[in-house]
Amino acid sequence: MKKIAVFTSGGDSPGMNACIRAVVRTAIYKNIEVMGILQGYKGMIEGGENFIPLNSRSVGNIIQRGGTILKTSRSKEFMTPEGRKKAYDNLVLNGIEGIVCIGGNGTFTGAEIFYNEYKIPSIGAPGTIDNDLYGTDFTIGFDTAINTAVNAIDKIRDTADSHGRVFFVEVMGREAGFIALASTIAGGAEIALLPEVKENYTEIIDFFKGITSSKKSFSIAIVAEGNIEGGSTAIIEKIKKEIPDFDPRIVILGHIQRGGSPTAYDRVLASRLGNGAVEALLEGRKNEMVGLLNNQIAYTSFNDSIYKKKELNPGLLKLIDVFNC
Ligand code: F6P
Repeated sequence: MKKIAVFTSGGDSPGMNACIRAVVRTAIYKNIEVMGILQGYKGMIEGGENFIPLNSRSVGNIIQRGGTILKTSRSKEFMTPEGRKKAYDNLVLNGIEGIVCIGGNGTFTGAEIFYNEYKIPSIGAPGTIDNDLYGTDFTIGFDTAINTAVNAIDKIRDTADSHGRVFFVEVMGREAGFIALASTIAGGAEIALLPEVKENYTEIIDFFKGITSSKKSFSIAIVAEGNIEGGSTAIIEKIKKEIPDFDPRIVILGHIQRGGSPTAYDRVLASRLGNGAVEALLEGRKNEMVGLLNNQIAYTSFNDSIYKKKELNPGLLKLIDVFNC
């Protein structure tokens, strides 16, 4: 293999730049040329100036930067055979023999379909704040996102305490509660409403009745955006039917969680995974995600990483109840 390409796709996550840097520098170390593709699959389809040669200096001074220097997108056109044919033609035109894609579920789904059609080997590095990919204990950006969330929760605690209020803090995670669960434990919150768990509303209502009768002066509930009830407002309406004077505040953290300088943990993780992705291509691997399991580099088929469900840690779930006494 003489020339590979790297791109980022889907929702950005802090640490993607550190991963791009690791891919580029590993490739150069191994005497392989590397190109960056701007805007993910969209740029691959459009070709032209979206294909840029990268050298060691192109990735200097980016390890600490959030976002992605290669930009990103969610491409509908890549989901069509015509779009993928254009992408393939552009890869051939640029002499690309292997691909490193940095992204999440949607990115790997696209990469797997593409490999089955055109046989250009690809390796995925898990870049998403959601941490919802099977085959890795952590995804690039998750640690930074939970630190951002916890930082916000700490601030909310101050005003919640002063006013004796209940706050519902909504964090990201469309289909997974990893951010919500970690934020609950690290933020010292009492309630976590997660997509994976069917809540017992009698217990939740009893808990808030306790608050309103001043058993506790204030409280924080963490809501994953993908929770079963459909968001903080719907949950609060449900509780209000039983506690009419329930008057909590809602804070939606939103895309703040996707930005910012990556934590040291995310930089190390991204560096290891970017290196592992290039090593994998050179070993002849394809159609796999590089991850970290028990602190060791591990490879999982795209198919498993996409379709197998990564479970929330039951030990952490239990801790919410233990600490809520
Ligand atoms: O990248 C994952 C994620 O941040 C999810 O947590 C969230 O639901 C979604 O992306 C938001 O996507 P968009 O940036 O398209 O609004």
